[in-house]
Amino acid sequence: MFNFMHNISSYDDTVKDFSWKIAEEELGYKPGDVINIGEYCTDRICRNGKAYKLALIWQGHKGEVKKYTFNDMRILTNSIAGYMKNLGITPGERVCLFMDKVPELYLGFLAGLKLGAIVQPLFSAFGSESLITRLEDAKTSAIITQKKHLPKVRNIMKDMDYMKYVIVVDETDPTHLREREYILDIENMEMLDKFDIYPSTAETPSVLHYTSGTTGKPKGAQHVHYSVISQYITSKYSLDLKEQDIYWCTADPGWVTGTSYGIIGPWANGVTQCVMDAGFTAENWYSFIERHRVTVWYSAPTAIRALMKEGEAAIKRHDLSSLRYLASIGEPLNAEAVLWSEKVFGMKFHDTYWQTETGSMVVSNYPCMKVKPGSMGKPFPGMEVGLVDIKTHKYFDKKGVVGVIAVRPGWPAMFRAYWNNPDKYNEKFVDGWYLCGDRASIDEDGYFWFVGRDDDVINTAGHLVGPFEIESALLEHPAVAESAAVGKPDQINMEVVKAFVALKPGFEESKMLELEIMNFIRKKLSPLAMPQEVEFVDSLPKTRSGKIMRRVLRAKEWGEEIGDISTLENDM
Ligand code: PRX
Repeated sequence: MFNFMHNISSYDDTVKDFSWKIAEEELGYKPGDVINIGEYCTDRICRNGKAYKLALIWQGHKGEVKKYTFNDMRILTNSIAGYMKNLGITPGERVCLFMDKVPELYLGFLAGLKLGAIVQPLFSAFGSESLITRLEDAKTSAIITQKKHLPKVRNIMKDMDYMKYVIVVDETDPTHLREREYILDIENMEMLDKFDIYPSTAETPSVLHYTSGTTGKPKGAQHVHYSVISQYITSKYSLDLKEQDIYWCTADPGWVTGTSYGIIGPWANGVTQCVMDAGFTAENWYSFIERHRVTVWYSAPTAIRALMKEGEAAIKRHDLSSLRYLASIGEPLNAEAVLWSEKVFGMKFHDTYWQTETGSMVVSNYPCMKVKPGSMGKPFPGMEVGLVDIKTHKYFDKKGVVGVIAVRPGWPAMFRAYWNNPDKYNEKFVDGWYLCGDRASIDEDGYFWFVGRDDDVINTAGHLVGPFEIESALLEHPAVAESAAVGKPDQINMEVVKAFVALKPGFEESKMLELEIMNFIRKKLSPLAMPQEVEFVDSLPKTRSGKIMRRVLRAKEWGEEIGDISTLENDM
């Protein structure tokens, strides 16, 4: 019988009584103990009597399905960890996962952690350029990939003398093998019932997730094994995950949602997860929910808006009665989307707010709490979340006034460093608060309302894209003198990238040149970062110190007030 009680029945009581110790005790952890995410998500669940419960239901793009129990996951992750160990990969080395959402991605992630490696998931749509920036920064020594992505890896091998192993999960023709390539064949490899799991402790590095920033290269947010404490309890309280659930997180593990809540949190709860490795269509998604009887669904506003556009007819063709709880992440969830979901699914999407750096939810709506459509909800119990002044960064406690969201450090899943970049890490802290870089206000009832980002990062379909990467790619074109990239409004993706380009003398703007520039950067950027439009301008608005004022360009796109332009160097 399904238990219809929510995991928490009163938000206020939970806030009063909460301590991270509750999660530690539920997971059987005591300070100083060995704690390994790979072990917590597989072996521990088996020991708790769920060895033969389904952990993963995977569906490929042809509709084919593979199923794995927690015991299968335990043995397969042992075997992959053993395989990597035999190759010579040692604890602390960075192992990149560069794959579509195939089972080996999920297995490889947990296997890497069992080995004590630092896993570095990267989105498989990244082009060679995006890939090498992140591999170079982390000096990654192994990459697990698929045959279909090998050309991108081969393209940059000559520039990566630190890359010792390229592990290909579905390579079948060994004559193509080069010195450093290995085949991981889970259908035929030796299965290890036992593997000496790396005795990581709370602060041992676990996952390295790259996130985009305004200036400079993407930053690697480094997490630790102790994060599982947060991810476990937030999955339980905010996503309301329970023993009988069939849970679907639509995010790709190349992004933090796909690991914190598409791998670690749910499996640490012993919950069955579904994964669909196929492109988005409303038909595909609804069929998937119907076929696997999904009960809890965690998705993103972009997808929700795309489903809204498809209308109700597609919903009516499917039996979606298994659904019981919906949640959303990654960008502002507009009130309209919440009201729509209540109308068509009979339940609201519950917005959640957090970031790569926070590793787990910071503010969210809980099943036991009244949802105010358009609000991100309230702080997770045990987390002190407030606002600091936009200019002075001083804490204030006034209702309805916009400030920067700030969190008191101390929650288990918080990132511990930006890889190789202590200065950027330190910049994030003021007066003992971690600053999230987002603006919000808090209402009389303690609900948070998102206002916007504090910087220039573009949020397209829930993915952060730094203008720097796009501008750098544009500047490599011989005709481009200056470039700027900003987000412009888009009904489905919230924002899409728009590029502004000033040409070098001797070049004339034309449709042909626009196309040529687009083709030139397409090879360098991921599809997400590709501008939808290039506008030629004589010059870009800049500060006297030469910094491009993207917010001026952005305000024009959004039809907003330009604000203070006293530092502007030139007229537009
Ligand atoms: O600007 C906020 C936006 O996404 C940023 C974090 O992006 P990333 O590190 O890629 O992690 C995404 C998934 C955790 C935030 O700084 N964001 C995230 N959730 C929301 C949001 N903006 C508005 N409402 C949200 N619920």
